[in-house]
Amino acid sequence: MYLLGIESSCDETSAAIVEMGDGVRRICSNIVASQIETHKLYGGVVPEIASRAHVEAISRVTKDALETAGIPLSKVDAIAVTAYPGLIGALLVGVNFAKSLAYANRIPLVPINHIHGHVAAAYLSNPDLKPPFLALVVSGGHTSLYKVTDDTHYEELGSTRDDAAGEAFDKIGRVIGLPYPGGAALDALANEGDPKAIPLPSPALAGETLDFSFSGIKSAALNYLNEKQMKGEAVDRADLAASYTARIVEALTKKAERALVETGLSTLVLAGGVAANSHLRAALTALCKRRKVTLALPERSLCGDNAAMIAAAGYYEFLAGTRAGTDLNASASDEGIGANLSSPF
Ligand code: KG4
Ligand code: ZN
Repeated sequence: MYLLGIESSCDETSAAIVEMGDGVRRICSNIVASQIETHKLYGGVVPEIASRAHVEAISRVTKDALETAGIPLSKVDAIAVTAYPGLIGALLVGVNFAKSLAYANRIPLVPINHIHGHVAAAYLSNPDLKPPFLALVVSGGHTSLYKVTDDTHYEELGSTRDDAAGEAFDKIGRVIGLPYPGGAALDALANEGDPKAIPLPSPALAGETLDFSFSGIKSAALNYLNEKQMKGEAVDRADLAASYTARIVEALTKKAERALVETGLSTLVLAGGVAANSHLRAALTALCKRRKVTLALPERSLCGDNAAMIAAAGYYEFLAGTRAGTDLNASASDEGIGANLSSPF
């Protein structure tokens, strides 16, 4: 079947056509209109500007996705749209657009959890992947471990108690003058530094928990920079990038290993924007080799926000019977949209 995916939860407007079926997982088109150049001016995503930019882009991006795929709307079997979590104004643009398109063309509408979408990116890059598996989702807004028991059931095993890993990367990237959003540039800079040069606290919480906290390492890095500045000493940015990245990657790897041991799962999926990080990919590859666990990585191009991953998640929700109607609402929170699923058309 063909699914049209629509994603607008943060600062990328995206539409995609994906073909899914027994043994078929194929991206026919995946158009992403990024707002990075706009938000760069402010050093972070400005929610109101993001909503307006989504409104301007969404029709064009959707038309482009259909044309690039060579699939007319009449051949689309379901529309999958990110309904939560994210910036509420941004989400509402995608949700309302998808509702109108689905209603006017009598196409089933499937609301999607953005986090499940990130995990579904791994399905597109790994044709044989199927649950159960452990999913480590690391993005700008989330850092969580899930036990995925079937394609639509996620049990959260641990998560961050404050900032997300992506947010922590972006903050330090910005302070040391790297281009916005700092994650990717910090990743490259870390290759040139010594990961043991600067002592920083671990974001892995002590004890048996599978939770993280990134506020401590972020503050420690900021304090280090302030102290250096006050003493008039130069900062080796590469050493800081390497040490900061190493502590974050070690923490994610440590808790992923603990979760693998606790659950006995033999497949690990990495997902989210930070899944593009080369140091994290290398550390998890080594972990999985050592533990004889299968590692399913999404292609780098599918790690950031995109609608192909939303369409892929939509396929499994569609099979599970998830539908929404014109009363579908968006939600900023992880808890979702619950009661809004009552009246599919
Ligand atoms: O999943 P995503 O596209 O958006 C959210 O749902 O949050 O994640 C964006 C985050 C940003 O913080 C960005 O800096 C980070 O992913 N990121 C990276 C890398 N590429 C993107 N962080 C570390 N290393 C990278 N290579
Ligand atoms: Zn995301």
